[in-house]
Amino acid sequence: MNVADLPKVELHLHHEGAAPPDFVRQLAAEKKVDISKVFNSEGGYAFKDFVHFLSVYEAATSVLKTPEDYARLTRAVLEESAANGVVYTESFISPDFCGGGDVAAWKEYLSAMQEAAHEAERDLGIILRGVVTCVRHFGPEKAKASARCAAETAGDWIVGFGMGGDEGQGHQGDFSYAFDMAREARLRLTTHAGEFGGPESVREAIRDLNVERVGHGVRSIEDAALIEELVARQITLEVCPGSNVVLGVYPSFEAHPIKRLRDAGVNVTISTDDPPFFATTMRREYEMLQQAFGWDVEDFTDLNITAAKAAFCDDATRDRVMKKLELT
Ligand code: ADE
Ligand code: ZN
Repeated sequence: MNVADLPKVELHLHHEGAAPPDFVRQLAAEKKVDISKVFNSEGGYAFKDFVHFLSVYEAATSVLKTPEDYARLTRAVLEESAANGVVYTESFISPDFCGGGDVAAWKEYLSAMQEAAHEAERDLGIILRGVVTCVRHFGPEKAKASARCAAETAGDWIVGFGMGGDEGQGHQGDFSYAFDMAREARLRLTTHAGEFGGPESVREAIRDLNVERVGHGVRSIEDAALIEELVARQITLEVCPGSNVVLGVYPSFEAHPIKRLRDAGVNVTISTDDPPFFATTMRREYEMLQQAFGWDVEDFTDLNITAAKAAFCDDATRDRVMKKLELT
């Protein structure tokens, strides 16, 4: 069997970052918004480095204005994921973009997305759960508002709280109030760390936010004692190799530390991050990793089981995901 055909679990996907460029162009045309600077001459997203990527991301997101827009986005994202064999996905959703941090508005966006997700599960078999994320470069006050939205809607669909954005701004601990609020609402926690920040950023994430998963975390490879800690505490890394290569964290899949992390006993999983931005898909990630490291069906099955175990969903949902993985 081709590894790319396996059923897959994805834990790290930004909802707007998964918007197909044609979908964003269509919405821009409908709303008469000029976002031509967002695209390159081939019609894909154009950016020159990480900070520029974040601003292009926000410009593309600016066409998504209403709950119905987010319902359409959810449908488009899940169709693409299902076409890539993804059976369970956790998507990062930001109240900053969905109602500006207002709880009542957020609930409207959320129910529109949930309805679209429900239809996609019925029609395509793919299961979606939401992880509310704050945006680091929007600052701790906005993060508190996002955490409030998350806490008010925590349950079997909003299952986690996390943080993305510019790792170069401030410290993980600046956001501890928001993460504490989310933890008290029984949400599971993750944060981006060790992508552009070094191992110290991952240490801060574990120490100051007490997260059980880390988005990326790949630069932990630079610190042997940290690797030992990740293994001892069973922290799971949401690794997005194609994203790291396009954003210049590593020059190639061959140079990527995912295999070294896995061989050291760290729980690693595979995700796409913002697939159309990085010209990737889950199928492509599997193919590139197989080419780089020779991983076979057994390796990818093991990686998917690791991901299913680290998913933030309830155990009844996890059992359903495990069944979907056993189909091969
Ligand atoms: N937001 C969307 N993609 C991101 C990434 N790779 N790192 C940090 N924030 C993000
Ligand atoms: Zn990310």
